[in-house]
Amino acid sequence: MELKEMQQELTERIAQHKLVSATISQPRQKSGDLKRIRLKPVEIKDLYYIQFEYQHEHVLKHKNLTAEEAGQELENLFAEFRQGLFQFTEEKVQVQLSKKFKVGWKTEETGKKQVELSHNRKKQYLLEDGIPYPFLVRLGVQNPDGSVKKQKYDKFRQINRFIEFIDDALVHLPKDRTVRILDFGSGKSYLTFALYHYLRVEKGLDLRVTGLDLKKEVIEECQMIAEDLGYGQLEFLVGDINDYNEDSAVDMVVTLHACDVATDMALARAVKWNAKVILSVPCCQTELNHQIASPELNIMLQHGLIKERFSALATDSIRAELLSLVGYETQLMEFIDMEHTPKNILIRAYKTGRQPDAGQLERYRQFTALLSAKPFLENELKELL
Ligand SMILES: C[S@@+](CC[C@H](N)C(=O)[O-])C[C@H]1O[C@@H](n2cnc3c(N)ncnc32)[C@H](O)[C@@H]1O
Repeated sequence: MELKEMQQELTERIAQHKLVSATISQPRQKSGDLKRIRLKPVEIKDLYYIQFEYQHEHVLKHKNLTAEEAGQELENLFAEFRQGLFQFTEEKVQVQLSKKFKVGWKTEETGKKQVELSHNRKKQYLLEDGIPYPFLVRLGVQNPDGSVKKQKYDKFRQINRFIEFIDDALVHLPKDRTVRILDFGSGKSYLTFALYHYLRVEKGLDLRVTGLDLKKEVIEECQMIAEDLGYGQLEFLVGDINDYNEDSAVDMVVTLHACDVATDMALARAVKWNAKVILSVPCCQTELNHQIASPELNIMLQHGLIKERFSALATDSIRAELLSLVGYETQLMEFIDMEHTPKNILIRAYKTGRQPDAGQLERYRQFTALLSAKPFLENELKELL
């Protein structure tokens, strides 16, 4: 088979909307930056396109092309790459080019496969099951072929949900300098690696990320993983949130499941640094549970369980209000949309510099007085209120 004929055969099948997925690999120049290209059909505003995903050494790039343009792009790519694996609706096609562009063409009937256009998919995650992401394979969430391990599916969904928040926050990050991000209480750092992967590898941002945690062994392990992955602008440090200082501008502060007032320490730091974006999932909010006393609320507070839950909700409401009072547009959102795990609250705050409404501080004070609450965060921010 001639090269031209091979390209026509492929283009024809694509034009008939038969492509399920494809991978083009084996670059002629091993030292080149572009390593592999993946293809999949997508539907955008009712039109059919082929999405080309170009996997470079450190960055993923995407292009959506019409069927006709896709044929042209295949021609360009087969000048540089020697192998193509195409899954069409009823057959698998393997293309192998020799050094001198001799075409090897093998087909295999596979039975009918469904074309899944992106918009039809059950849930379009930013990271996809079936595509191997080096950090997810290294962290044991995916198998080397990209399939998500059954027992890690909840983690995979949580990571994807977190990346949605990161994606939303992108517009608030500076474009003209290195973006500085701190993750306080990073622990095993699944989400820190995810954040780095998304912003650096997928979006190509120039950034420096630090994960901070009290646990020396966990931090050493994370640092080793970052080095294995070649994540040169991600570092892990042992330290206490409360002692941590930073001279350069901080653009985003993340604090996920840091216990009790560790969350408040991180929020206070973020505010003082004028961070543009704060993403915080609090946990173990016990501070208020020890303070709260309010005869008007005794019908609730007499039950230990209710008191505990109410205190946690009031704590997060207070945090959100304090952030709003110091110039952040703040929302409380659901972090995990999973059926089988408890739902968490994520505090999302973007610095807008908006002044508080008339009476907002007074209403805040009435609320804390009602609960007899003396929040740690209020004390930390008292000069700004
Ligand atoms: C529940 S883990 C959460 C880990 C990770 N952020 C996540 O969401 O998967 C909370 C982490 O916060 C860390 N931590 C608690 N207080 C801290 C403090 N004052 N300074 C630094 N790290 C702290 C703990 O060591 C722990 O690893």
